[in-house]
Amino acid sequence: MLKNTGQGVQRMTMIVGGRGKSFTFKFPVIPDARGNLTFVEGNRHVPFELNRVYYLYDVPSGAVRGGHAHRDLEQVLISLSGSFDVSVDNGVTRERYSLNRSHIGLYIGPMVWREMENFSSNAICLVLASKIYDESDYFRDYDQFIKELADQQ
Ligand code: TYD
Repeated sequence: MLKNTGQGVQRMTMIVGGRGKSFTFKFPVIPDARGNLTFVEGNRHVPFELNRVYYLYDVPSGAVRGGHAHRDLEQVLISLSGSFDVSVDNGVTRERYSLNRSHIGLYIGPMVWREMENFSSNAICLVLASKIYDESDYFRDYDQFIKELADQQ
C-alpha cells in the first residue's frame, strides 16, 4: 500500500472502503530525527471526504466506548497516544484490533457494530469521519442492527 518514491516521501494507493468492511492500513510517515510526521488528506489517504474530527481522551480504566453502528457513516480510528482495542462486527464476522501506532488507521465502514475498550491511561483515540454528527445515522441497539442487516438482505 505504501510506496517509497525514493525521495523520502511515501505515496499511498487509495484504500477502498465500503459497507460492512473494516481493516487497518498505514498512513504516510515522514521520518525525521526531530520526530516523525504523518498527514491525512480526505479522498486520498482515507476513502471519503473529511467532514468531522473528534477524539476520545481521559478515558477511565475499564471504560467501554462505542456500542453502536452507523447506517452511512465511514470512520477511521487512529491511536495518537497509548493503546486501545476495537471490536468490530458486521453481522457475519467479528474481529478485534489493537491500535497502538500513530501511523496506523482502522477503517470502519457503514453497518459495522464497534466497541472500544482496554484504553491505556494515556490513550488518545482520534476519529476521522465522513459526515457531521447525526444521531439518526446511529444504531444504538444491537438487535435492531442485526434485524436491519437481515431486512436488507
Ligand atoms: P458516541 O458516538 O456514542 O461516543 P462513542 O462512540 O465514542 O462512545 O457519542 C457520545 C455523545 O457525544 C453522544 O451524546 C453524542 C455526542 N457526540 C456529538 O455531539 N458529536 C459528535 O461528533 C460525536 C462523535 C458525539
